Amino acid sequence: MNVLGIETSCDETAAAVVVNGKRVLSNVIASQIELHQSHGGVVPELAARGHIIAVVPVVEAALREAKIGRKSIDAIAVTAGPGLAGSLLVGVNVAKALAYSLNKPLIPVNHLEGHLYANWLTLPGKATVEPPAFPVLFLLVSGGHTELILMTRHREYQHIGRTLDDAAGEAFDKGARLLGLGYPGGPAIQRASEGGDPAAFDLPRAWLGESDDFSFSGLKTALLRLVEPYRIAQPKVPRDPSIPFAEHRPAHYRPEMPVADLAASYQAAVIEVLARKVITAAVKHGVKTIALAGGVAANAGLRERITSEIERLGTSDRIAFRYPPLILCTDNAAMIAGAAAFAIKHGDQGGWEVDVHPRYPIT
Ligand code: KG4
Ligand code: ZN
Repeated sequence: MNVLGIETSCDETAAAVVVNGKRVLSNVIASQIELHQSHGGVVPELAARGHIIAVVPVVEAALREAKIGRKSIDAIAVTAGPGLAGSLLVGVNVAKALAYSLNKPLIPVNHLEGHLYANWLTLPGKATVEPPAFPVLFLLVSGGHTELILMTRHREYQHIGRTLDDAAGEAFDKGARLLGLGYPGGPAIQRASEGGDPAAFDLPRAWLGESDDFSFSGLKTALLRLVEPYRIAQPKVPRDPSIPFAEHRPAHYRPEMPVADLAASYQAAVIEVLARKVITAAVKHGVKTIALAGGVAANAGLRERITSEIERLGTSDRIAFRYPPLILCTDNAAMIAGAAAFAIKHGDQGGWEVDVHPRYPIT
């Protein structure tokens, strides 16, 4: 079964063709990073306009790269939420039109469920990925979400823990902004940390007692206190009303600010909490697999830390550890097509009554 997936929930316009929820034939991603960079974050109105321009060429490129014609598509999958309402509408409308004109089922997909199903995908030219063994404990860490989700079988989810304030990706993005490292923050902090000492600053870790929940807002405030003494006050410039969105003016700091040590210490604090909480929950629930999902799953330090924590558990408690290839951690449409194939396999027939859900919990 060939599924064409379309994803426009945030700042990537993406389309992909996936066979049976597993084998990726094409995975095209047009990033809007340049569009938003000067604003220091995603501007919803610009994002929606960007998707309108990119979506048709991106879908065409996905079909071309997959080397299949429209007629060979068995279903169309589209992200229905969570995400930016205006951005979601673009993808949903294109998907609806395509499904209607080709007379194929339209499957609305939860973006977060898509991130989880990225763990079932095999990229073109790569050795076939074995499906993760159930039960799987997911650490879903993206720009808007941080959740521990227990999956006992396909499409059955139990929420174990979640963030009480900022998401892990948001913590990276806000931390990078405070350090003057730009957007998106995760890769910037990872890069800036290289050569830095993760023990240079003792930043707070919110353990929240025995709870499986997370909190990152205190960490962000602690970083703010550390960078404040290095900040160079900038003159106030009146806003130019001819520019529709205020340009982001990066903070300026004195050159002696220890950016690498601060970034490494900050990253270490985020990673330590994520890694220890996922391991504790995995042991408590007796899972066979820990799997990462979402943009922060691309973080090398997080992957290394969880790997070493699992090794420390010893062989009797050995838990498999999985994460998608880098390109499938951050937003893409292959994961949307993949999740849709499993939805179809488990009885979802799709339909035309597709609405967008800016907030859309996995159930
Ligand atoms: O899943 P995603 O692409 O979009 C959402 O659904 O939110 O995740 C984006 C988030 C951003 O906050 C970004 O800073 C973070 O993932 N991210 C990373 C890395 N690459 C992306 N965080 C830490 N380390 C990375 N290497
Ligand atoms: Zn995402």
